[in-house]
Amino acid sequence: MRSPSTRDPLSMTDLLIRPGRAADLAAICEITRDSFAGLAKGHYAPAQVAAWMQGCSPETYREGVQAGRIRVADLGNEVVGYVDAGPGEITRLFVLPKAAGRGIGSRLLRIGVRLAREGHEGAVVLESLLNAVSFYEQRGFVATGKGFSSHGSAETPPIEIVRMSLPA
Ligand SMILES: CC(C)(COP(=O)(O)OP(=O)(O)OC[C@H]1O[C@@H](n2cnc3c(N)ncnc32)[C@H](O)[C@@H]1OP(=O)(O)O)[C@@H](O)C(=O)NCCC(=O)NCCS
Repeated sequence: MRSPSTRDPLSMTDLLIRPGRAADLAAICEITRDSFAGLAKGHYAPAQVAAWMQGCSPETYREGVQAGRIRVADLGNEVVGYVDAGPGEITRLFVLPKAAGRGIGSRLLRIGVRLAREGHEGAVVLESLLNAVSFYEQRGFVATGKGFSSHGSAETPPIEIVRMSLPA
């Protein structure tokens, strides 16, 4: 049994969802890479995992932060996940493997849907990685088609995604 003085380093009582800021850009980039590598790897070839972040850098996410589209999950001053959402669309949702399965993705998704619905009345759409399709289905999204992510490299097979939609 754990000693009462032992503190869970990822205690959910410390969870704060807040707007992303410029100081978070490096963490957001690392989360995107580590989340795909750790949580999606069973669904994609090792070469696709390696190619996933090609061309991405912290700067890739600056525009989203500046536009107020990004909310981060800050757990005891460590950013462990984020959602990027604009009118009618969830553009990105990633959680670090070590923080997954604790409800953080669900909370970020709810906030992302709220952001996507601000000033937008139709369906909310997203492109899901293969590993996350059931996560979204259990939260009301339906698959509408298949496609390929803009991530990756020309030398590796394209990264398959599923287009999903949450009815208005
Ligand atoms: C998909 C993803 C965002 C989910 O994030 P998460 O923080 O693990 O999500 P949650 O913890 O809210 O839910 C995940 C599962 O853990 C379960 N869970 C475990 N403990 C939980 C808790 N304390 N509270 C809520 N759910 C819990 C949930 O029931 C859920 O299971 P379900 O999908 O069968 O319903 C995350 O796995 C991820 O980043 N994956 C890689 C990148 C990706 O696929 N992104 C989305 C597509 S772009």
